[in-house]
Amino acid sequence: MIQRQDGPIGIFDSGVGGLSVLKEVRELLPSESITYFADSGNCPYGSKTQDEILFLARRQIAFLLSQNCKLIVIACNTLTAVAIDCFRSEYPIPFIGMEPALKPAALKTRTKKIGVLATENTFNGKLFRQTYEKHAFGLEVFIQPGYGLVELVEKGEQDSETARQLLEKYLAPMVEKGADTLVLGCTHYPFLKKMLETVTQGRMAIIDSSSAVAAQTKRILTEYDLVSHKGQSPRLTFFTTGEKAIAKNFISLAVDIPFELEQVET
Ligand code: DGL
Repeated sequence: MIQRQDGPIGIFDSGVGGLSVLKEVRELLPSESITYFADSGNCPYGSKTQDEILFLARRQIAFLLSQNCKLIVIACNTLTAVAIDCFRSEYPIPFIGMEPALKPAALKTRTKKIGVLATENTFNGKLFRQTYEKHAFGLEVFIQPGYGLVELVEKGEQDSETARQLLEKYLAPMVEKGADTLVLGCTHYPFLKKMLETVTQGRMAIIDSSSAVAAQTKRILTEYDLVSHKGQSPRLTFFTTGEKAIAKNFISLAVDIPFELEQVET
């Protein structure tokens, strides 16, 4: 009989960005099978309405449930902001979401000035407001929507001149004002890390929440008795509604064991 512990962890993002989270989950939980869904064919979610996002996300979550996922990580700040409460009340398995890393940033900054780069929908959600009220007290916070960045990463152009120019435009003003810590509030942005370091020239510490989410995934698996049985060899399966070649490049940046990749309809 198949035990529910044997099912994979599902990881879902509007595109390839959530692979930055998958990398950390895999490192922390190497015996777990993972099924990743990249909705690259419908990306970006950051500027869509809540109804549009919910419509797409419910369809893709139904798909992950049909793959026997025992828990789903919403590896997307935007989707977490817009819909995590709905998912938790609608589906019978645990959901883990993303939270902008304001708390570690508050502990790290020396100038008491931090920048946050995220999508518009993430900034507009109540989760960001709550996290801000809880952790940003006494800090000056520069909020910057990362218009166009998700689209660049999805095209594989994270190291391009356009990426450099956009990041320069978004970050130079906050660096100028003394911000020394940058929170990446979108799971696509860790793939811009090289360019972020070039643009900020070491003047900002760059922080994201992927390792905290991996730790939370481990905690919840344990709490719900969902840890996979020892001896099971893990399977990594990827589904994308976008181009397979792009997905393959990003998957290879995140994992170093064989995987299966399939394209599905949008
Ligand atoms: N990776 C998503 C996030 O963390 C990107 C959102 C989008 O599709 O615009 O917010």
